[in-house]
This record gives sequence, C-alpha cells and structure tokens, in this order.
Amino acid sequence: MEMIRIRGGATLSGSVSVSGSKNASLPILAACLLIDGPVILDGVPHLRDVDSMLQLLENLGVAWTRQADDSLLLEVQDDHEVRAPYHLVRTMRASFCLLGPLWAKRGRAIVSYPGGCVFGHRPVDLHLKGLGAIGAQLELGDGHVHATGRVQGGNVFLGGNFGSTVLGTANVVMAAVLGSGETIIDAAAQEPEVADLCHFLNACGADIRGIGSHRLVVRGVDALHGCRYRIIPDRIEAGTLLCAGVITRGEVEVLGARPEDLSAFLDRLRAAGVSLELGTRELPINRRTDDGLRELDVNAAPRIRPAAKGAGKARTGDLVAGDLDERQGSLMADRVALPGSSGAADSEGEAGDGGGVATEHVPFIRTLPWDRLDAVDVATLPYPGFPTDLQAQILATMCIAEGVSVITEKVYPERFIHCAELARLGAKIHREGPTAIVHGQRRLRGAAMMASDLRASAALVLAGLVAEGRSEVRRVYHLDRGYEALDRKLARLGADVERATES
Ligand code: EPU
Repeated sequence: MEMIRIRGGATLSGSVSVSGSKNASLPILAACLLIDGPVILDGVPHLRDVDSMLQLLENLGVAWTRQADDSLLLEVQDDHEVRAPYHLVRTMRASFCLLGPLWAKRGRAIVSYPGGCVFGHRPVDLHLKGLGAIGAQLELGDGHVHATGRVQGGNVFLGGNFGSTVLGTANVVMAAVLGSGETIIDAAAQEPEVADLCHFLNACGADIRGIGSHRLVVRGVDALHGCRYRIIPDRIEAGTLLCAGVITRGEVEVLGARPEDLSAFLDRLRAAGVSLELGTRELPINRRTDDGLRELDVNAAPRIRPAAKGAGKARTGDLVAGDLDERQGSLMADRVALPGSSGAADSEGEAGDGGGVATEHVPFIRTLPWDRLDAVDVATLPYPGFPTDLQAQILATMCIAEGVSVITEKVYPERFIHCAELARLGAKIHREGPTAIVHGQRRLRGAAMMASDLRASAALVLAGLVAEGRSEVRRVYHLDRGYEALDRKLARLGADVERATES
C-alpha cells in the first residue's frame, strides 16, 4: 500500500488547476445509460471512483474509451444486462445512482443495496421513495433492490432529517427524463453537481426546469441523444487546495475554482481573517497546465463510428475512428453549449478557423498570507451552506488558528474520524456529539497518521503540511478515490511531499 510522506513547514505559493468534479462526473456517467448514441465528456478526472463507475458501466454494456485529448467517449452497445452486483457496487456508494437510469431505460433494474460507510449510517430511503412515487415497483431481495414497472411521473418531496439528498435527487431526475409523465421534485438537492447533471441531460434533449432550485420539473421525452459536454470544476478539490494555501500562510492561486460554488466556504475563510483575491485569467484552451484541468482541444473534432448494436458485451476500444456522418453535426453543435463560467463559452478564437489560439476566461481564487488566523465556527449544511465535504479540511486548518472554533456537522453527524488522527500531531479537539471543539495550537508536530476516508485523508495531508518535522499519511488509496494527483499538485506549489510504499 502507498503512503504520503510530508516534511512540514514549507510556505506554498504558485498556481494550480482544479480537475473536473468527481461528484458531478459519477452521476453523469451513470446517465449515459439513458442515451442513444455516443457521448463525449470533457474533464472527467482520473480517479479510482471514476474507474469503478466505468467498470460498472462496462458490465452494463457501455463501451468507453479515453481519447487522445483526454475526453471520455461512451456509448451503450448492449442493453441486456440489468444487474449491478454487490462485488462492484460495494466499492462505491455512488453506484446506487445507476438504479434510476437503468430502470427507466431498460424497464428493470437490480442494484445491490449499498453497504455501510465509515462516517455513519447512510440510508437510501429517499431514493426509493422518489423512484416509487414516479412508478417504480421496488422489492428488496438477496441484498439487491429490484425495480420494475414503467416511469409514469408524479410528485415527490425529497427532504429528510438532514436536508435533501444529492444522489437521491440525481436518481429520480435520471429516471424521470424518459417517458410521457411529468415529475415534480420538491426539496430537490441544489448542489452544483445536481445542476450539472441536469444541464447535461438537457443538452441530450431532456426537459428539466428549475435547475439549481429546490423544485425541479421534469417532463419525460421519448429518447435522449448524445452530446459533447464538459464537467464542472471540482469545488471540493478547489476548497482543499485553498486550505493548503491558508494553513501554510501561502499565496496559492487555484485556477478553475468558481467562487459562486464556494460562497459559504469563502465566507468562513474571510471571517478567519484570510484575504482572498478573485478574478479571471485569459488562458489558451488546452494549455492551462500540464496537470489539473484537461481542456477541450477545439481543433480535435471527434470522429466516431459506433460498433453494430447487439455485438455482445461491450469492451473498451469498440468505438473506432471513422466517419461520423450525420452524428458529427449534433456533437459539434453541443460543443459550444458548455455551461458555467469556467466552460469554453468565452472562447475567443474559432475552432479550426486558423485565426490564432483559442482562449477562454478561467476564474481563479487566490489566498494571501494572513497576519493572524482567527478561529471561526462552522456548521455544515446542504448547498448553498458549508459543504460537509470540506468539514475535515477546515477543521484541520482551525487546528492552528487563534482561539476556539466550534465545528458542527449537520449532514453526517458522525463524520469526525479524522479528529483522532489529528490529535496525533498535537491538535486539541474535543468531540461533543455532532460537534468538534477545536482549540487552536501554535505548533503541530509531525507523526504517522492513518487515512480512513477520502476527505479525512485530505485533512491529514493538510495538517502534515504545517506540522514540524515529518508526517506520514497511510492508506492513501482513500485519497486517490477522489483527488486527482493531489500530492503532485501540492509539490508543484512547493510542498515537500512524496509517495512511498508502506513498510
Ligand atoms: N439521507 C437519508 N436518506 C436517503 C439519502 C440520504 O436520510 O435516502 C441522508 C444522509 O444520511 C445524509 C443526508 O441525507 O445525512 C445527505 O446525504 P446525500 O444523499 O445528499 O449524500 P449522497 O448523495 O449519498 C453526496 C456526495 C457526498 C457528499 C454528500 C452530501 C457523491 C458521489 N457523494 O452523497 O460526497 O458528502 O452528497 O453533500 O456525490 C465525498 O465526495 O467525499 C462524499 C462523501
């Protein structure tokens, strides 16, 4: 197993790009089950969770391939399989969001009931309530959820004791886009990743209104067609990199970070006394950095010839270069319809017009060195509140702040497994149920730590950056589930980090 070794104390500085969003990519990949024809996705990060989802899709008859420009090309080649088995689903909870699209498109779905999770009980009752409300007949057998029936549409309220549900909303939206009914989802999750899924589906011909709000209205359509689409930047990775700048008192520019997705987080940084600069940079498309965002090369037109239908189980590489004929038209048209301020919408050079290098305006957020870092209170909430996926990272940052911060977890009340590991560095953290009380320390001292889940791992790495001497973060595979080359990005900013094999 691999670990990360860190020698703390370096002040980070420089510019780094965020990758495409993991939590937007996973449901968008699942949504490819719904689509007739090829789909090209730009910005899908290279992550273990993405690999797991691609393996599940491959098992469900989807052929996929990474193209030379790093885009992902996918197409359903065989639609007979309806089962997502336990041995594949158990590695990643997000695979449960295959249930909605699989049922809607193939009339039947059998998806393993997801197992437990290190940060507490994570039920799927709201997913099932939502799918049931729009026509699914659901049964539990052999540890799998069996869905049959037809999508009919209907009204559903998806609010629960801890707010709405992100993947539950995705599941219901993906099922509701096909068919003749109308679905109204109240208390829909408003996270940018849910909005990105809806924008993608609309680009494929779906009719979803109210995107980004708590009420989604979905009118079913007969079929969805392929398109080319770019995934939004990862706001959680952006927040993590900004924490790296703050905790080391550095000047770190995070390119691609969309401030509008990070309002609650930026508010807490400012309250702690951190000065931030926000702006946009005009950069050549595809040449932003050599890692981080992999940009769409507008000169590389996709040329795809899908293999014949029913040609057996799909394999990587079944899609071959060839004539695209009439399909190329729709793919080309959709390439300019990329959403969001970090998309290619600002492109100032025309693709292939020979009129110079195409550029785009890329947003950035930059941390400036602080004079004093004050402790602040944080409560996680569904979007637009402070994201639970940045709780561990802000908590690590507060370990060196002046004063006492009270950090309350209102989405996953037990998501505090990182506290015990941070204590190994000398952090003073006291747990009271869903709240951690952090007494800021001037110094942390390096130690060996054990990663337990994705965001907790990131928090341990952040603390290691500022702890005196050497730290080790073991079981780093947790980090690789959801961060693309975080250690390399930190090294580029001047951190003394290296990967090593655990002894
Ligand atoms: N909940 C229910 N019933 C349900 C579903 C959820 O009670 O049927 C509860 C959960 O127990 C939790 C709250 O509702 O208390 C929110 O859970 P949600 O369903 O929104 O979480 P999720 O969709 O399973 C996604 C992200 C998580 C992120 C949460 C909250 C993906 C792949 N996962 O999970 O991301 O923490 O939303 O924002 O999008 C991560 O990236 O590290 C991660 C865990």
